[in-house]
Amino acid sequence: MKHLLSTADLTRDDAVELLDEAARFEQALAGREVRKLPTLRGRTVMTVFYENSTRTRVSFEVAGKWMSADVINVSAASSSVNKGESLRDTAKTLRALGADALVVRHPASGAAAQIARWTNDGTDVLGLPSTGPAVINAGDGTHEHPTQALLDAYSLRARFGSLDGRKIVIVGDILHSRVARSNAHLLSTLGAEVVLVAPPTLLPTGVQTWPVRVTSELDAELPGADAVMMLRVQAERMNGGFFPSAREYAVRYGLNDNRLALLPEDAAVLHPGPMLRGMEIGFDVADAPQSVVLDQVRAGVHVRMAVLFRLLASDTSEAGQAPDHHQ
Ligand code: CP
Repeated sequence: MKHLLSTADLTRDDAVELLDEAARFEQALAGREVRKLPTLRGRTVMTVFYENSTRTRVSFEVAGKWMSADVINVSAASSSVNKGESLRDTAKTLRALGADALVVRHPASGAAAQIARWTNDGTDVLGLPSTGPAVINAGDGTHEHPTQALLDAYSLRARFGSLDGRKIVIVGDILHSRVARSNAHLLSTLGAEVVLVAPPTLLPTGVQTWPVRVTSELDAELPGADAVMMLRVQAERMNGGFFPSAREYAVRYGLNDNRLALLPEDAAVLHPGPMLRGMEIGFDVADAPQSVVLDQVRAGVHVRMAVLFRLLASDTSEAGQAPDHHQ
């Protein structure tokens, strides 16, 4: 695997290996006062974010630093992007500055894949043969957010073990959600039954080709669910308004206390964050015993360690075997 651009590219074995690797990192670091492994010493990871982020950007930085990589954060707001530099020139510049991995968030669907093509054209800045950086999609428009889906799967596996046959209900603004698309692919690859619940106005065209069942009846789906994942309503992608209204949305699709009571006792409540309390999730529901929201955040570091390890370190030993990176 050279890049991580989409969960649709992952086989079941790929996904399980990444999740198992993440678990080994979590285990290796548990209880340590000094969380520092030598795994990626000498490698340079650059995060390039053209959209706001708290969880994804910080957890990639933590993941890289815990593995001794040099991590450099490039914010579009304070870079030469603001002087009009193109995405292509920015990507090629960061490659020339020595990036071994580019972690990219961008509002355009397909941006990370395009950067992977531009920076892996087989030559370096002098035209000499060269391998370009690994590119990790940290969210591209409404397309995909693969590491989010991996950390969601990790949190669900921690709760249930195997996901085979588990019913996962994903609720809300599917139209604008890269998290929903990545999870639809990954969770079904891992054997789960994925149900999307949304108002018809917040469903993308082509959703019928996804490996999911689609409905607008939330209350009917909750009693048999193993987990429910609430999505943020992405007002910033809606040109000023959306239908149904915010109030109607909260009433019909919000996970309030009454709906929480419809779930089986051992069901898990997930949210990728940032949460809009009072909109898609009740003010107190995010803190209910069923909520694994902060487990998801913590899992983000271990999953991103596994992804960086897989892309940057797994072929560095003499025999092509992974070195013992957990010491
Ligand atoms: N879930 C997620 O991508 O959060 P951030 O936007 O804070 O990175």
